[in-house]
Amino acid sequence: MSDRETKPSDLPVWKQLQDHARDLKGRHMRDLFAEGDADTGDDSTRFDRFSARAAGLLLDFSKNLVTDETLDLLVELATARGVFEHRDAMFAGERVNLTENRAVLHTALRASRDATIGVAGGDENVVPGVHEVLDRMKAFVDEVRSGERVGMTGSPFTDVVSIGIGGSGLGPVMATEALEPFTSRSLRVHFVSNVDGTDVAETLRDLPVETTLFIVASKTFTTQETLTNARSARDWLLSRAGVDAADAIRAHFVALSTAEEEVTEFGIDPANMFPFWDWVGGRYSMWGAIGLSVALAVGWESFESMLAGARKMDEHFQTADPRQNLPVLLALLGVWYIDFFGARSHAVIPYDQYLHRLPAYLQQLDMESNGKRVTRSGELIEEGEYDTGPVIFGEPGTNSQHSFFQLLHQGTHWIPTDFLAPIESHNDHGDHHVKLLTNFFAQTEALMRGKTADEARAELEAAAAKRGDDSPVDEALVRHKVFPGNRPTNTILFQKLDPETLGALIALYEHKVFVQGSIWAINSFDQFGVELGKQLAGKILGELEGADEVRSHDSSTNGLINEFKKRRDGVTA
Ligand code: F6P
Repeated sequence: MSDRETKPSDLPVWKQLQDHARDLKGRHMRDLFAEGDADTGDDSTRFDRFSARAAGLLLDFSKNLVTDETLDLLVELATARGVFEHRDAMFAGERVNLTENRAVLHTALRASRDATIGVAGGDENVVPGVHEVLDRMKAFVDEVRSGERVGMTGSPFTDVVSIGIGGSGLGPVMATEALEPFTSRSLRVHFVSNVDGTDVAETLRDLPVETTLFIVASKTFTTQETLTNARSARDWLLSRAGVDAADAIRAHFVALSTAEEEVTEFGIDPANMFPFWDWVGGRYSMWGAIGLSVALAVGWESFESMLAGARKMDEHFQTADPRQNLPVLLALLGVWYIDFFGARSHAVIPYDQYLHRLPAYLQQLDMESNGKRVTRSGELIEEGEYDTGPVIFGEPGTNSQHSFFQLLHQGTHWIPTDFLAPIESHNDHGDHHVKLLTNFFAQTEALMRGKTADEARAELEAAAAKRGDDSPVDEALVRHKVFPGNRPTNTILFQKLDPETLGALIALYEHKVFVQGSIWAINSFDQFGVELGKQLAGKILGELEGADEVRSHDSSTNGLINEFKKRRDGVTA
């Protein structure tokens, strides 16, 4: 068994980290700031010592409960886990997705044309194939956006509907929303994912059938939701077209997939299919064919800039010293809180409305990758040994301040949080942006500093004095007004949300997830946890169609299914 497959909790450095965490538990970040550099005693250096920059991003991680010793130990943990060899193995095309025996080469999708990358053990350089697809995508995007490519009645496309779910939906939606200022407002791009018929019905309701282009995005081309929506879209097109079905589909449907046979069976001409490969995981796939909807929305130049930003982050991840390496740092800080402080969740708060779908995207990226409890060698991670991926959630600031920030500041759960913001806004009307950033800076300061009982009491006394009230301060009220502080945050600051920055940001989180998976000895690239529900749904579909009373499940499931069938069929009890 290689080091990569053993459990991290068996390492001596794990025990050292546990002891170190115990020491730090009594400390407050305020004191760490006041104390400054252990060698020089200079109290102004913490920001400089605990921040790093790459690919246009500044990561300030000084508002964490860490010292130089913490970082040394965490980097030692990463080294002992073989994280850096594992990283190199991934980039070199080794089959690091052990359970599916696949290489993990989404980084090849954004590699430069002159790079040489292959699946280990094979002799094919995958980069020319990647660029052949990118070149086809570019030609297609240019044709659609210029109006050269037309629908069945000869009119240019005005609307694109991209149908896909999970990794074939969330990345494109998030990126298209994030890059809205770069979109051609004349070509509208819509997304449909949910099998709930409302999604496709509401999307298609007002669209012009003659000028709507459909993209069916599915790695496997077997996903129930996507195929159901694609069939409904096809029916919608054909019921209104009054033209030859094959011609209409040829003109209005393209597929993004690895499964040519299934695409052909659906009726889409393979000439209208943009392929990718089994070494690209669904949730890591927006850099190639799956990004077609993004490229249609923002144009080829912007799409290429997004790839360039991700490439910069790849280079940084591969070459930067661990203590300056953004993905490594974010990953280690996450492990620090999850495994040594019992944190169960992690929040991501973008102070940029265009990033409003980032938390949803990161939920799949992180939770589908690292929400696991069996090691790479197949051993169960027993309760109490260590924890793996956290619950990821978030909403843009400042909206989130008015919903769940109460819990972040004063709740019993300790939730490490990433704060992200641009220096410049795309929409700097009056003083909006300065107010947005005022809140951004204030929140991380408040989460770190908190408010002591003395401070709270002094405020209450001052307010009472103003009212002319000299009765003693209610100590229970003081406790309500105390903010414990010491709540860790990472701040990620960038100039402006442009395609290159977005690419770097997403690659940053991809690599963070990779590093954490390496430390926890789990395979971040499979997703068996989504299978059971799909299997049971397949069985239940047959039962819902039949007239018989259902008895094959537990009494709850039987009861609910039979209630549904009775009410659907108008049978009263
Ligand atoms: O939800 C499970 C999943 O397999 C994801 O991993 C994947 O991104 C999504 O479904 C969609 O799969 P496909 O691209 O094959 O339609």
